[in-house]
Amino acid sequence: MKRYFYIVAALLSNYIASAQRTIIDFNPNWKFWLGDTSIAKEPGYRDDNWRTLNLPHDWSIEGEFSEKNPGTPNQAALPTGIGWYRKTFTLPAGAENQNVFIEFDGVYRNSEVWVNGHYLGKRPNGYVSFGYDITPYCNPGSAQQVIAVKVDNSLQPNSRWYTGSGIYRNVRLVLTNKIAIDQWGTFITAPTVNNNVAIVNIQSTINNTTGQLGHGTLFTTIYDASGKYVSKGIAWLHGAPGWPAGKATYSYSTAINKPILWSVENPYLYKAVTKVMVNGKVVDEYVTPFGIRYFDFDVQKGFSLNGRPMKILGVCMHHDLGALGAAVNERAMERQLQILKDMGCNAIRTAHNPPAPEWLALCDKMGFLVLDEAFDMWHKKKNKFDYNIDFDQWHKQDLEDQVKRDKNHPSVIIWSIGNEIREQFDSTGIPLTKELVGIVKALDTTRPVTSALTETDTTKNFIYQANALDLMGMNYNQQLYPDFLQRYPGKKFLATETMSALASRGHYDMPADSVRFWPLKGQKFVSPGNPDYTVSAYDNVAAYWGSTHEQTWRIIKQYDFLSGLFVWSGFDFLGEPVPYPWPARSSYYGIVDLAGFPKDAYYMYQSEWTSKTVLHLLPHWNWEAGKEVDVWAYYNNADEVELYLNNRSMGVRKKQPLDFHVQWRVKYEPGTLKAVSRKNGNIVSTKTINTAGIPARLEIVPDKKILHADGKDLSFITVRILDKNGNLVPAADNKITVEIVGKGTLAGMDNGYPASLESFKAASHKAYNGLCLAIIQAKPETGNIQVTFSSPGLPSATTVLQTH
Ligand code: GAL
Repeated sequence: MKRYFYIVAALLSNYIASAQRTIIDFNPNWKFWLGDTSIAKEPGYRDDNWRTLNLPHDWSIEGEFSEKNPGTPNQAALPTGIGWYRKTFTLPAGAENQNVFIEFDGVYRNSEVWVNGHYLGKRPNGYVSFGYDITPYCNPGSAQQVIAVKVDNSLQPNSRWYTGSGIYRNVRLVLTNKIAIDQWGTFITAPTVNNNVAIVNIQSTINNTTGQLGHGTLFTTIYDASGKYVSKGIAWLHGAPGWPAGKATYSYSTAINKPILWSVENPYLYKAVTKVMVNGKVVDEYVTPFGIRYFDFDVQKGFSLNGRPMKILGVCMHHDLGALGAAVNERAMERQLQILKDMGCNAIRTAHNPPAPEWLALCDKMGFLVLDEAFDMWHKKKNKFDYNIDFDQWHKQDLEDQVKRDKNHPSVIIWSIGNEIREQFDSTGIPLTKELVGIVKALDTTRPVTSALTETDTTKNFIYQANALDLMGMNYNQQLYPDFLQRYPGKKFLATETMSALASRGHYDMPADSVRFWPLKGQKFVSPGNPDYTVSAYDNVAAYWGSTHEQTWRIIKQYDFLSGLFVWSGFDFLGEPVPYPWPARSSYYGIVDLAGFPKDAYYMYQSEWTSKTVLHLLPHWNWEAGKEVDVWAYYNNADEVELYLNNRSMGVRKKQPLDFHVQWRVKYEPGTLKAVSRKNGNIVSTKTINTAGIPARLEIVPDKKILHADGKDLSFITVRILDKNGNLVPAADNKITVEIVGKGTLAGMDNGYPASLESFKAASHKAYNGLCLAIIQAKPETGNIQVTFSSPGLPSATTVLQTH
């Protein structure tokens, strides 16, 4: 036996190079062609005249808006079509003894990949991560390799929102030895957790491609957030039966004393480093960040995290990054999350597809709970060419890959197998629900599975009747929530989607205190609204299937068994411009607009969802003389608010229980509106809004002045149009031009107006209601970036950023 072991070990050493896993950023230097040219898959194809670019890349966002684009305004009226990508590369020395994998985090959609002319396969789903083993097709030694990717987003419409087109997420090349941990090859869970100890279970999947039995040791070391050693788990030592050729999974465990639990307030992460040793040499090292937490959904008491009851205060988010389109950028994702965190949001639903892996890593680090959703449709379509055409063939693999990829993220607490799935309404929903839940449970039993349902009559809802969901996800239907426990005895409640309130940032129609639903039930889906495609930003307009922000929050807040909600939507997103037709091309649903500027409702949530002191006053103070204007204040940490107009009191207002704002009706006169909040007679906060004069200058507010010189980092610069006294000019729409000198480039401009047809990539953009945004991207070089903003008739303004 011993002798046999040494022979095998000697044989293996031929296969195993001393280098371990190498991960190569495969984003730089691709060639791109917008159009179809099937000969581009041939390795010898001359792509010299193609455009050179770095991934991630979304060609749709670079295009012009047009009503004629087949994607329609529901997909932001941007171009789609077919595109080709090619990259010529060489492999590092020693690669011939290793396995070479290419990993794509997401390609929208129908990607087909060739390496050196060999066809690797097709992946229709535009949101899943996938990879190919390209070892057999690589040319030997230092020879050049060519990868070609065809992306086909030409069959339209295929989505209800903007998808982007292209290789819009990261790509990497992974080189491993012939015995290595498989892709997504660890699974770390903590089935027993208390204050003293966490028992941590580790599953490691070894991929042994030597074709022979492998021997060695597999172990995982746990480090705390400061990098200090915590404990070690050993899977298997010399002398055991050996790793069979192919893939095999080993389970083992370790204990962590006095574990620090992951929570939304303290998102504490441990790191597991799994090593594979063969012949005394480490042949692979695989790092898995993870967190230790436990949670529960209780029929009566709702949600608790680490034993502490809390509500899930969530929003739904699509994947686009506004002016940057779908192209993944970590800083842009982090900014969105920071803005939501500051509002008090603690959870996000990834509507309606798996997110980018970096986005989940940010949620782990920043402390968000995630509902990770798989599908917007199954076999039955919502659009002619959507995923329904691929569902039968691909749903198993797509769902499995999502769970395998995302299962170690402490942020992910719920899997959703689908949003408003049509199979709710017919009996095929029963077996499909059972099958999909089974696919998830075969891989992960530590998280509940839900589906976002709309049909509330259980006799008509076949997904419900499958009786396979752990949580009953309900979209809208808020009037039924108080009676939920009587209607659905024993079921655990989650409002998977709520509100669909509508608003344009900074636009106000009077009166504020009557709620309107668009379109009125039974009416044709037309826009009875404003000629400038605006919707009032008092929280009093909503889609008829939803409610204002206050209406649903009032219900959720009252009952513990209502474990939480996901507001539709956190940010405005590209596409679905309800209630307007073209030229509207992005949504009105966001609590925050497309450019990242909060609408007023943001402060309602902030006053309810955080303990920060809030006093927010609306609207602006520029009206026609004598007009009756409704003035609202959102406030907290105070008993009352008094409003003054030009130093005359307009009265004191107090919120009654379950009120979320106070209102005064004021006859407009120019001057100063001032709100003062008080607690026990003492001033807590004051807020002043002055009548603004004409635009006089530009105020430049970068969210970040020091950038990483990595070719990716971003500074989001807000341009505010001020009068000569420094007041924001509320309706200002001055055209702003940006000029950049030095180590930066313009990544995009936006103003948050959903019916703007200006290109996001142009260097000039109008302001909307006084604000404009320019996104500056660092070059991979250190130095200064001088950014100058100009606008006709106004002095220009400059800021200097630095890259390090
Ligand atoms: C829901 C749907 C969302 C979005 C929303 C708009 O029914 O799940 O994707 O379309 O309506 O109100």
